[in-house]
Amino acid sequence: MPDSKLDTVETPAVPVLKKLHIKTYGCQMNVYDSERMAEAMGGEGYVLTDSPEEADMVLLNTCHIREKAAEKVYHELGRLRPLKEANPNLKIGVAGCVAQAEGEEIRRRMPLVDMVVGSQSYHKLPAMTRAVDRGEKPVDTDFPVEDKFEHLPERPVQARPTAFLTVQEGCDKFCAFCVVPYTRGAEVSRPVARILGEARKLVEKGVREITLLGQNVNAYHGEGEEGTWSLARLVRELAKIEGLDRIRYTTSHPNDMEDDLIAAHGDEPKLMPYLHLPVQSGSDRILKAMNRKHTAAEYIRLIERIRAARPDLVLSGDFIVGFPGETDQDFEDTMELVRKVGYGAAYSFKYSARPGTPAADRTDAVPAEVADERLQRLQALITQQQRATQEAMVGRECFVLFEKPGRQEGQWVGKSDYLQAVHVKGENIRPGTLARVRITASGPNSLAGELI
Ligand code: 5AD
Ligand code: SF4
Repeated sequence: MPDSKLDTVETPAVPVLKKLHIKTYGCQMNVYDSERMAEAMGGEGYVLTDSPEEADMVLLNTCHIREKAAEKVYHELGRLRPLKEANPNLKIGVAGCVAQAEGEEIRRRMPLVDMVVGSQSYHKLPAMTRAVDRGEKPVDTDFPVEDKFEHLPERPVQARPTAFLTVQEGCDKFCAFCVVPYTRGAEVSRPVARILGEARKLVEKGVREITLLGQNVNAYHGEGEEGTWSLARLVRELAKIEGLDRIRYTTSHPNDMEDDLIAAHGDEPKLMPYLHLPVQSGSDRILKAMNRKHTAAEYIRLIERIRAARPDLVLSGDFIVGFPGETDQDFEDTMELVRKVGYGAAYSFKYSARPGTPAADRTDAVPAEVADERLQRLQALITQQQRATQEAMVGRECFVLFEKPGRQEGQWVGKSDYLQAVHVKGENIRPGTLARVRITASGPNSLAGELI
């Protein structure tokens, strides 16, 4: 029998929390930015939800790198329309690179959008949300002189043993196909002391692996003691933090791969033997047209030097096929470069013309069917190399940093030094356990192993 007295007891008043749903597109830097935005909105009483249906505010953190990425955003906004109709108080915000690039245009095309916050304005998000409450529709796509991260709240407890840390933003390279120099602006490096402070706090909260992020991370030149520091110097200083076991960085440009960074790969044990070093094409003619400012041979020579410093290094890269004017021979040169280098992982994309970039003005587009066929051939070669790299791990021993439970009972998933996912069974494993593992089998996307 239900107790009627209990039925009438009022539940104690709890502060009303509002719910925020963030959908993140694109690169790791957006993942980091989304975390920082969630933290900033935490101060406004917002907690995260996975479900847009129950959210009071939906933020799309967007990517503008390829046409499809930008179109996805408009598609997603269309899908939010019924939610907004059902709940007119639902706030919808667009952040990230599409916001930066299109600004006001987004609101013209999608009137349901309440605010547009460019990639350098996240610290203004709470104030912009309050402006929406007052009935305004703010758009902020300035490139402020101040560092947005210094105006964002301190990072709260980290649930995971791995974390991203943005050290540099923007790019001055102006590759002919790329919107990043326009959407993220010129290269800016965060000061050394801020980065070390953020890293130490992350480690205090249980983080054991930090990935330093930047659109051009190895161009890092932050102010530190005695002047400007290179990425290598920053890595060596971070390596002194007790409890931090692993350091990674991404994404790098071949022309900024300085001697001191190569040396660090050889003698800094905490710097992990995995490097994402995009080359985009193996044809000198196309590299020149892309404004990459290096040749295929220079790239290969560079790889040889890094591998001389760290022979077990696993390499990853990015490729664009079907850049305007790319001939069969140019594409064969790319295939040849991939064969010579041998990648452990690589990402390949069909060229997509981005408004405002120099390559978008070219009239010698490669027919879509030709680009499709090239993409398929390149991806098949990359997949084959990826499998070979994984299979070569079988029988070897390596360290694994465990992150979360696997699908099977008692199973845990972590990452090898080479960033491969590894499944292991073990009773004493916890998130953050770093253990030696013998690799026993290789699947399509991950490895299996046992504790030693
Ligand atoms: N078309 C296709 N791919 C592109 N990338 C950047 N811009 C374009 C474009 N316009 C790819 C590059 C880059 C990766 C992040 O995205 O390979 O390294
Ligand atoms: Fe874009 Fe080139 Fe800069 Fe990379 S280096 S962000 S591809 S302009």
